[in-house]
Amino acid sequence: MTEQTPVNEAAAKPITLPDAQTVTSVKHWTDRLFSFRVTRPQSLRFRSGEFVMIGLMGDNGKPLLRAYSIASPAWDDELEFYSIKVPDGPLTSKLQHIEVGEQIILRPKPVGTLVLDALLPGKRLWFFATGTGIAPFASLMRDPDTYERYEQVIMMHTCRDVAELEYGRQLVEDIRQDEMLAELMGDGFADKLLYYPTTTREESPQMGRITDNLTSGKAFADLGIDGINPEDDRGMVCGSLAFNTDMKTVLEGFGLEEGANSDPKQYVVEKAFVGDGI
Ligand code: FAD
Ligand code: A2P
Repeated sequence: MTEQTPVNEAAAKPITLPDAQTVTSVKHWTDRLFSFRVTRPQSLRFRSGEFVMIGLMGDNGKPLLRAYSIASPAWDDELEFYSIKVPDGPLTSKLQHIEVGEQIILRPKPVGTLVLDALLPGKRLWFFATGTGIAPFASLMRDPDTYERYEQVIMMHTCRDVAELEYGRQLVEDIRQDEMLAELMGDGFADKLLYYPTTTREESPQMGRITDNLTSGKAFADLGIDGINPEDDRGMVCGSLAFNTDMKTVLEGFGLEEGANSDPKQYVVEKAFVGDGI
């Protein structure tokens, strides 16, 4: 005999939004950038580097959703997101005020091209990001699989100002001290991850656009790497449309070809946002 829920008990259940997840922490990095963590739906399986649709209920009672890279790795119990604050942005003008205990909507259908499976095996894996484009790499940098597949992982991140680099800088520092990752990866794991942050508008120890630092050879000289070649090197690109377009030209100049989930090759690209920038 199947059990039936008494009518009065069902009526007492709290009303929940469809696909609602609860915010567990929020951190504001600058007046334009913040990160937050939410509960993870038990059913959600994703590959590090993928994105999902998240959002809030709009004033019209309909969900207001936007694409967001999951910044946490596939093994994490929670989900992390790293977000821009667009002053008049339909979603982020509200999302930037979210607090612990409040709910967001999360559609559990992860997709994306910035996944390890979209690349052929190689020796070195390069992550090239501007601004919030570091989010998918925040996930991949914390995935042991990344270090199992590659001898070296190089994170190049460029922002206008030093303060905008802080999320990535702190993340890399945490990864290098992460006992669980160290245990999984063995001694010397931290040495596999090279970090190359630059600014373009504020004076800092390393400066310049990623594209310029690659074509001039400055990045290679600073990192102690001979260069990028199609046999050894694999790349993932995430930034504005202009950045992605220029990076494709640079990588193809080194002889790399663009791949996809269905056709793995030497590099993959995804937009960090749609639009011309703010
Ligand atoms: P929108 O109306 O969506 O955008 C208004 C304008 O703001 C855009 O035209 C653009 O000029 C600018 N803008 C939007 N997003 C950004 C950004 N991230 N950086 C700089 N300028 C921007 N955004 C994130 O903050 N974090 C992510 O991890 C992220 N992942 C994405 C993954 C994909 C595949 C895509 C397509 C977009 C992603 N975005 C991400 C952008 C995100 O979907 C929204 O555009 C952003 O949250 C702003 O929403 P909005 O409604 O406030 O403004
Ligand atoms: P720059 O300051 O020289 O424009 P934004 O804040 O506009 O999204 O830019 C984020 C970072 O990406 C900035 O450091 C910016 O450098 C850099 N950038 C913007 N467009 C390109 C591009 N086409 N190629 C390389 N870097 C770019």
